[in-house]
Amino acid sequence: MHLKALVAVALAGRLGAAQELMRFGCSQLTFDRIDPLVNPGAMPSPHMHQIIGGNALNVTMDPQGLDPPTASTCTSCTYSQDFSNYWTANIYFRASNGSFKRVKQFANLGLKVEGGMTVYYIRGYRSADKVTAFPKGFRMLVGDPGNTVATKVPSGNCFRCEDNFQQNPFQGAPCTNRDTKGFPKGKCNGGWRVTVTFPSCWDGKNTDSPDHKSHISYPASGTFESGGACPKTHPVKIPQVMYEIMYDTTPFHNDWPANGKQPFYWSHGDDTGHGIHGDYLFGWKGDALQKAMDTKCANDNCKALERQSDAKAIACTKGQFAKEDIGDKWLTSLPGAAPLS
Ligand SMILES: *[C@@H]1O[C@H](CO)[C@@H](O)[C@H](O)[C@H]1NC(C)=O
Ligand SMILES: *[C@@H]1O[C@H](CO)[C@@H](O)[C@H](O)[C@H]1NC(C)=O
Repeated sequence: MHLKALVAVALAGRLGAAQELMRFGCSQLTFDRIDPLVNPGAMPSPHMHQIIGGNALNVTMDPQGLDPPTASTCTSCTYSQDFSNYWTANIYFRASNGSFKRVKQFANLGLKVEGGMTVYYIRGYRSADKVTAFPKGFRMLVGDPGNTVATKVPSGNCFRCEDNFQQNPFQGAPCTNRDTKGFPKGKCNGGWRVTVTFPSCWDGKNTDSPDHKSHISYPASGTFESGGACPKTHPVKIPQVMYEIMYDTTPFHNDWPANGKQPFYWSHGDDTGHGIHGDYLFGWKGDALQKAMDTKCANDNCKALERQSDAKAIACTKGQFAKEDIGDKWLTSLPGAAPLS
């Protein structure tokens, strides 16, 4: 093996062990213009989302009244006790003539099917710490679709321009100097790895807040990665939830605009990429997630959890509530949103 490759493998192994990370594949549940966290009841919601997880997904999901593990009959995640819903905006290419087409995702390496995400629950470097699983009804939001400023992109949210085709999300820690806070500007021959990471501290009381963010926080000093302690206002350490999404931007290289402008847009119309955001709606069955944290589950084969077959996860899909063309053929406009520029 090449020396550089050896070092990379060793480093990945060390990080993996130290962080005690559980990661698993979830295939696409649906693409839908709904947002039961930020715009409950709105059908359609302002922009399109790509959504994974339990099929109790609905336009409105009452945190008290609805129990996702009870209301779901399947989940698109490999851990079959996880009926949470996870979603982000999706990405479009805009051709010189103004038409849009959806940027497809690479097959998820875990599941070998187009779309979906790899989900992480990371305990952190300080192995002795108690990590508290989310309570029933918990939900949270990271990022802001209206943001266009790089410095306001939350920590742990970034893009990696992959040089070579490898469709592999597992390429070392995200949001390093190899990543950008906005959309990569040039052609990326291996597509993009998009990372969305949530804060890792909780106030210990509220399962949600008006902005869906105030009940969670980043460490008081330092970072999650450096073992920074939670602030007094948000003293409870929760798993660091992270999404990894691999986009295949390469089919558009031949249609690249002559003026050289970066041609990709989030579904909410942002062409800077700084509007990167993710939504989380907890739905693990019983105390399964707490067990996973306590036994330091790694990857997608943890003994403390039930794992379903890949085929079963892939078979869990849901029709759209807001009937909308998702853009696999050319669209004259973004579904519901105006392009920023
Ligand atoms: C969605 O929610 C509505 C209103 O609560 C309910 O009537 C309907 O059965 C739910 N649909 C699905 C598919 O869960
Ligand atoms: C717009 O451009 C794309 C990419 O070149 C092309 O495939 C499509 O047919 C064009 N659409 C229209 C309406 O001209």
